[in-house]
Amino acid sequence: MISENFENILFEVKENIGFLTLNRPDKLNALSEEVLKEMSVCLAKISEEHLSGVVFTGAGEKAFIAGADIKAMQGMTVDQASEFCKLGQKVSFQIENLKCPIIAAVNGFALGGGLEMALACDFIYASNNAVFGLPEVSLGLIPGFGGTQRLAKVIGRNYAKEIVFTGDKIDVTRAKDIGLVVRAFNDKESLIEEATNTIKRMQKNSPFAVSKAKKAINNGVDFGNVDGLKMEREIFSALFNSYDMKEGTLAFLEKRKAEFKGN
Ligand code: COA
Repeated sequence: MISENFENILFEVKENIGFLTLNRPDKLNALSEEVLKEMSVCLAKISEEHLSGVVFTGAGEKAFIAGADIKAMQGMTVDQASEFCKLGQKVSFQIENLKCPIIAAVNGFALGGGLEMALACDFIYASNNAVFGLPEVSLGLIPGFGGTQRLAKVIGRNYAKEIVFTGDKIDVTRAKDIGLVVRAFNDKESLIEEATNTIKRMQKNSPFAVSKAKKAINNGVDFGNVDGLKMEREIFSALFNSYDMKEGTLAFLEKRKAEFKGN
Protein backbone atom coordinates (compact mmCIF):
# COMPACT_ATOMS: atom_id res chain seq x y z
CA MET A 1 0.00 0.00 0.00
CA ILE A 2 1.21 3.52 -0.79
CA SER A 3 2.36 5.13 2.45
CA GLU A 4 4.33 8.12 1.12
CA ASN A 5 3.27 11.59 2.21
CA PHE A 6 3.11 13.94 -0.75
CA GLU A 7 2.89 17.74 -0.56
CA ASN A 8 0.88 18.20 -3.74
CA ILE A 9 -0.90 14.88 -4.26
CA LEU A 10 -3.57 12.93 -2.47
CA PHE A 11 -3.93 9.21 -3.08
CA GLU A 12 -6.32 6.75 -1.50
CA VAL A 13 -7.78 3.36 -2.36
CA LYS A 14 -11.41 2.39 -1.84
CA GLU A 15 -12.83 -0.98 -2.93
CA ASN A 16 -9.63 -1.56 -4.91
CA ILE A 17 -10.12 1.68 -6.90
CA GLY A 18 -7.38 4.33 -6.66
CA PHE A 19 -8.26 8.03 -6.31
CA LEU A 20 -5.42 10.27 -7.41
CA THR A 21 -5.98 13.99 -6.76
CA LEU A 22 -3.62 16.79 -7.69
CA ASN A 23 -3.77 19.00 -4.64
CA ARG A 24 -2.45 22.50 -5.32
CA PRO A 25 -5.73 24.37 -5.71
CA ASP A 26 -4.35 27.86 -4.90
CA LYS A 27 -2.28 27.60 -8.12
CA LEU A 28 -5.07 25.83 -9.99
CA ASN A 29 -3.06 22.59 -9.67
CA ALA A 30 -0.31 23.89 -12.00
CA LEU A 31 2.47 21.40 -12.71
CA SER A 32 5.78 22.51 -11.20
CA GLU A 33 8.87 20.30 -11.25
CA GLU A 34 8.16 19.31 -7.66
CA VAL A 35 4.57 18.31 -8.50
CA LEU A 36 5.73 16.26 -11.49
CA LYS A 37 8.37 14.47 -9.41
CA GLU A 38 5.77 13.57 -6.80
CA MET A 39 3.42 12.37 -9.54
CA SER A 40 6.15 10.18 -10.94
CA VAL A 41 6.90 8.55 -7.57
CA CYS A 42 3.19 8.07 -6.86
CA LEU A 43 2.52 6.52 -10.30
CA ALA A 44 5.47 4.14 -9.87
CA LYS A 45 3.92 2.98 -6.58
CA ILE A 46 0.45 2.69 -8.15
CA SER A 47 1.88 0.48 -10.89
CA GLU A 48 3.04 -2.00 -8.22
CA GLU A 49 -0.53 -2.36 -6.89
CA HIS A 50 -3.16 -4.59 -8.46
CA LEU A 51 -5.89 -1.97 -8.67
CA SER A 52 -9.05 -2.28 -10.78
CA GLY A 53 -8.61 1.28 -12.00
CA VAL A 54 -7.76 4.85 -11.04
CA VAL A 55 -9.86 8.04 -11.02
CA PHE A 56 -7.58 11.06 -11.57
CA THR A 57 -8.85 14.52 -10.69
CA GLY A 58 -7.82 17.97 -9.45
CA ALA A 59 -8.57 19.44 -6.02
CA GLY A 60 -11.02 22.33 -5.74
CA GLU A 61 -13.93 23.37 -7.92
CA LYS A 62 -12.02 25.53 -10.40
CA ALA A 63 -9.42 23.39 -12.14
CA PHE A 64 -8.33 19.93 -13.06
CA ILE A 65 -4.86 21.30 -13.91
CA ALA A 66 -4.26 24.78 -15.38
CA GLY A 67 -1.06 23.70 -17.13
CA ALA A 68 2.66 23.60 -16.58
CA ASP A 69 3.85 26.13 -14.02
CA ILE A 70 4.41 29.29 -16.09
CA LYS A 71 6.24 31.05 -13.26
CA ALA A 72 8.75 28.19 -13.01
CA MET A 73 9.17 28.01 -16.80
CA GLN A 74 9.78 31.72 -17.21
CA GLY A 75 13.43 31.64 -16.12
CA MET A 76 14.45 28.26 -17.53
CA THR A 77 17.47 27.76 -19.79
CA VAL A 78 17.22 25.49 -22.84
CA ASP A 79 18.81 22.64 -20.90
CA GLN A 80 16.51 23.11 -17.92
CA ALA A 81 13.51 23.27 -20.27
CA SER A 82 14.61 20.03 -21.90
CA GLU A 83 14.82 18.32 -18.49
CA PHE A 84 11.42 19.75 -17.49
CA CYS A 85 9.91 18.51 -20.75
CA LYS A 86 11.48 15.08 -20.24
CA LEU A 87 9.98 14.89 -16.74
CA GLY A 88 6.50 15.92 -17.95
CA GLN A 89 6.68 13.38 -20.78
CA LYS A 90 7.84 10.68 -18.36
CA VAL A 91 4.82 11.30 -16.12
CA SER A 92 2.42 11.25 -19.08
CA PHE A 93 4.05 8.01 -20.25
CA GLN A 94 3.65 6.49 -16.76
CA ILE A 95 -0.06 7.42 -16.79
CA GLU A 96 -0.57 5.99 -20.27
CA ASN A 97 1.23 2.76 -19.41
CA LEU A 98 -0.39 1.95 -16.07
CA LYS A 99 -1.63 -1.62 -16.42
CA CYS A 100 -5.05 -0.75 -15.01
CA PRO A 101 -7.44 1.75 -16.61
CA ILE A 102 -7.18 5.39 -15.51
CA ILE A 103 -10.01 7.87 -16.12
CA ALA A 104 -9.36 11.61 -16.17
CA ALA A 105 -12.21 13.25 -14.22
CA VAL A 106 -11.91 16.84 -15.42
CA ASN A 107 -13.54 19.58 -13.37
CA GLY A 108 -12.87 23.16 -14.50
CA PHE A 109 -9.73 24.10 -16.41
CA ALA A 110 -7.66 21.44 -18.21
CA LEU A 111 -5.18 23.62 -20.03
CA GLY A 112 -1.73 22.95 -21.46
CA GLY A 113 0.01 20.27 -19.41
CA GLY A 114 -3.34 19.62 -17.70
CA LEU A 115 -5.00 18.57 -20.93
CA GLU A 116 -1.85 16.64 -21.82
CA MET A 117 -2.10 14.61 -18.59
CA ALA A 118 -5.80 13.99 -19.26
CA LEU A 119 -4.96 12.83 -22.81
CA ALA A 120 -2.52 10.28 -21.39
CA CYS A 121 -5.41 8.72 -19.42
CA ASP A 122 -7.57 6.06 -21.08
CA PHE A 123 -10.45 8.48 -21.57
CA ILE A 124 -11.87 11.72 -20.23
CA TYR A 125 -15.05 12.33 -18.24
CA ALA A 126 -15.86 15.95 -17.43
CA SER A 127 -18.16 18.15 -15.41
CA ASN A 128 -20.17 20.73 -17.33
CA ASN A 129 -17.88 23.57 -16.19
CA ALA A 130 -14.79 21.98 -17.81
CA VAL A 131 -12.67 24.07 -20.18
CA PHE A 132 -10.04 22.53 -22.43
CA GLY A 133 -7.20 24.00 -24.45
CA LEU A 134 -3.54 23.91 -25.41
CA PRO A 135 -2.66 27.63 -25.16
CA GLU A 136 1.14 27.12 -25.38
CA VAL A 137 1.49 29.02 -28.66
CA SER A 138 0.07 32.08 -26.88
CA LEU A 139 3.15 31.87 -24.63
CA GLY A 140 5.52 31.33 -27.55
CA LEU A 141 5.75 27.61 -26.83
CA ILE A 142 4.35 24.36 -28.12
CA PRO A 143 2.76 21.59 -26.04
CA GLY A 144 5.66 19.61 -24.58
CA PHE A 145 4.15 16.86 -22.42
CA GLY A 146 2.95 14.71 -25.35
CA GLY A 147 0.11 16.98 -26.51
CA THR A 148 1.22 17.33 -30.12
CA GLN A 149 1.20 13.54 -30.43
CA ARG A 150 -1.69 12.40 -28.27
CA LEU A 151 -4.29 15.06 -29.18
CA ALA A 152 -4.05 14.17 -32.86
CA LYS A 153 -4.31 10.50 -31.99
CA VAL A 154 -7.43 11.05 -29.87
CA ILE A 155 -9.44 13.53 -31.98
CA GLY A 156 -7.70 13.43 -35.38
CA ARG A 157 -5.07 15.79 -36.69
CA ASN A 158 -7.42 18.40 -38.19
CA TYR A 159 -9.27 19.16 -34.96
CA ALA A 160 -5.94 18.91 -33.12
CA LYS A 161 -4.30 21.48 -35.38
CA GLU A 162 -7.20 23.91 -34.96
CA ILE A 163 -6.92 23.66 -31.16
CA VAL A 164 -3.10 23.90 -31.08
CA PHE A 165 -2.70 26.66 -33.70
CA THR A 166 -5.43 28.91 -32.24
CA GLY A 167 -4.84 28.16 -28.55
CA ASP A 168 -8.64 28.40 -28.23
CA LYS A 169 -10.35 27.33 -25.03
CA ILE A 170 -13.25 24.98 -25.74
CA ASP A 171 -16.23 24.07 -23.59
CA VAL A 172 -17.69 20.65 -22.82
CA THR A 173 -20.26 20.69 -25.61
CA ARG A 174 -17.56 21.25 -28.21
CA ALA A 175 -15.21 18.79 -26.47
CA LYS A 176 -17.91 16.11 -26.66
CA ASP A 177 -18.66 16.91 -30.30
CA ILE A 178 -15.06 16.29 -31.34
CA GLY A 179 -14.65 13.15 -29.22
CA LEU A 180 -12.33 14.62 -26.62
CA VAL A 181 -14.77 14.02 -23.76
CA VAL A 182 -16.61 10.72 -23.51
CA ARG A 183 -19.25 11.73 -20.94
CA ALA A 184 -20.19 14.95 -19.13
CA PHE A 185 -21.94 15.41 -15.77
CA ASN A 186 -23.66 18.25 -13.93
CA ASP A 187 -21.19 18.66 -11.09
CA LYS A 188 -17.96 17.36 -9.65
CA GLU A 189 -19.69 14.99 -7.24
CA SER A 190 -21.57 13.13 -9.98
CA LEU A 191 -18.43 13.21 -12.16
CA ILE A 192 -16.40 11.31 -9.53
CA GLU A 193 -19.31 9.01 -8.73
CA GLU A 194 -19.85 8.03 -12.38
CA ALA A 195 -16.13 7.58 -13.06
CA THR A 196 -16.05 5.26 -10.04
CA ASN A 197 -19.13 3.37 -11.29
CA THR A 198 -17.47 2.86 -14.67
CA ILE A 199 -14.46 1.24 -13.02
CA LYS A 200 -16.84 -0.88 -10.93
CA ARG A 201 -18.41 -2.14 -14.19
CA MET A 202 -14.92 -3.16 -15.32
CA GLN A 203 -14.35 -5.06 -12.06
CA LYS A 204 -16.51 -7.99 -13.19
CA ASN A 205 -14.11 -8.62 -16.09
CA SER A 206 -10.74 -10.33 -16.18
CA PRO A 207 -8.21 -7.66 -15.08
CA PHE A 208 -5.59 -9.44 -17.17
CA ALA A 209 -7.72 -9.20 -20.32
CA VAL A 210 -8.63 -5.53 -19.61
CA SER A 211 -4.93 -4.61 -19.28
CA LYS A 212 -4.11 -6.51 -22.49
CA ALA A 213 -6.98 -4.78 -24.35
CA LYS A 214 -5.55 -1.45 -23.14
CA LYS A 215 -2.13 -2.41 -24.43
CA ALA A 216 -3.54 -3.47 -27.81
CA ILE A 217 -5.52 -0.22 -28.24
CA ASN A 218 -2.62 1.98 -27.08
CA ASN A 219 -0.04 0.33 -29.30
CA GLY A 220 -2.18 0.09 -32.42
CA VAL A 221 -1.85 3.70 -33.52
CA ASP A 222 -3.34 3.29 -36.97
CA PHE A 223 -6.39 1.12 -37.42
CA GLY A 224 -5.73 -1.28 -40.25
CA ASN A 225 -2.00 -0.75 -39.88
CA VAL A 226 -0.27 -4.06 -40.60
CA ASP A 227 1.94 -3.86 -37.50
CA GLY A 228 -1.05 -2.92 -35.34
CA LEU A 229 -3.02 -5.92 -36.57
CA LYS A 230 -0.01 -8.21 -36.10
CA MET A 231 0.43 -6.92 -32.56
CA GLU A 232 -3.30 -7.40 -31.88
CA ARG A 233 -3.07 -10.98 -33.20
CA GLU A 234 -0.05 -11.74 -31.01
CA ILE A 235 -1.71 -10.45 -27.85
CA PHE A 236 -5.02 -12.14 -28.72
CA SER A 237 -3.46 -15.55 -29.28
CA ALA A 238 -1.11 -15.30 -26.27
CA LEU A 239 -4.19 -14.87 -24.03
CA PHE A 240 -5.21 -18.43 -24.89
CA ASN A 241 -2.43 -19.50 -22.53
CA SER A 242 -3.88 -17.53 -19.62
CA TYR A 243 -5.84 -18.90 -16.68
CA ASP A 244 -8.44 -16.12 -17.00
CA MET A 245 -9.27 -16.96 -20.63
CA LYS A 246 -9.73 -20.64 -19.81
CA GLU A 247 -11.81 -19.81 -16.72
CA GLY A 248 -13.88 -17.13 -18.49
CA THR A 249 -14.87 -19.35 -21.41
CA LEU A 250 -15.50 -22.37 -19.19
CA ALA A 251 -17.64 -20.33 -16.77
CA PHE A 252 -19.77 -19.15 -19.69
CA LEU A 253 -20.31 -22.71 -20.91
CA GLU A 254 -21.07 -23.88 -17.36
CA LYS A 255 -23.49 -20.94 -16.90
CA ARG A 256 -21.72 -19.65 -13.76
CA LYS A 257 -19.86 -16.48 -12.74
CA ALA A 258 -16.16 -16.52 -13.68
CA GLU A 259 -13.58 -16.46 -10.87
CA PHE A 260 -10.70 -14.53 -12.39
CA LYS A 261 -7.17 -14.63 -10.96
CA GLY A 262 -5.58 -11.85 -13.05
CA ASN A 263 -3.15 -13.98 -15.02
N1 COA B 1 1.22 28.26 -13.91
C1 COA B 1 1.47 28.89 -12.76
N2 COA B 1 0.50 29.47 -12.00
C2 COA B 1 -0.76 29.40 -12.47
C3 COA B 1 -1.07 28.75 -13.66
C4 COA B 1 -0.01 28.15 -14.40
N3 COA B 1 -0.23 27.49 -15.54
N4 COA B 1 -2.40 28.86 -13.87
C5 COA B 1 -2.89 29.56 -12.82
N5 COA B 1 -1.89 29.88 -11.99
C6 COA B 1 -1.98 30.64 -10.73
C7 COA B 1 -2.14 32.13 -10.99
O1 COA B 1 -0.89 32.73 -11.23
C8 COA B 1 -2.76 32.57 -9.68
O2 COA B 1 -1.76 32.64 -8.70
P1 COA B 1 -1.69 33.93 -7.71
O3 COA B 1 -2.96 33.84 -6.91
O4 COA B 1 -0.46 33.67 -6.88
O5 COA B 1 -1.62 35.13 -8.59
C9 COA B 1 -3.65 31.39 -9.32
O6 COA B 1 -3.15 30.26 -10.01
C10 COA B 1 -5.11 31.58 -9.71
O7 COA B 1 -5.16 31.85 -11.10
P2 COA B 1 -5.86 33.16 -11.75
O8 COA B 1 -5.19 33.44 -13.06
O9 COA B 1 -5.88 34.25 -10.75
O10 COA B 1 -7.32 32.61 -11.97
P3 COA B 1 -8.38 33.12 -13.06
O11 COA B 1 -9.67 32.49 -12.69
O12 COA B 1 -8.33 34.59 -13.20
O13 COA B 1 -7.88 32.50 -14.47
C11 COA B 1 -7.03 30.78 -15.93
C12 COA B 1 -7.86 31.11 -14.64
C13 COA B 1 -6.88 29.26 -15.96
C14 COA B 1 -7.78 31.28 -17.16
C15 COA B 1 -5.66 31.46 -15.82
O14 COA B 1 -5.08 31.14 -14.56
C16 COA B 1 -4.69 31.04 -16.90
O15 COA B 1 -4.80 31.45 -18.05
N6 COA B 1 -3.68 30.20 -16.53
C17 COA B 1 -2.64 29.77 -17.45
C18 COA B 1 -3.17 28.75 -18.42
C19 COA B 1 -2.10 28.34 -19.40
O16 COA B 1 -1.67 29.11 -20.23
N7 COA B 1 -1.66 27.08 -19.29
C20 COA B 1 -0.68 26.52 -20.17
C21 COA B 1 0.69 26.68 -19.62
S1 COA B 1 1.90 26.00 -20.71
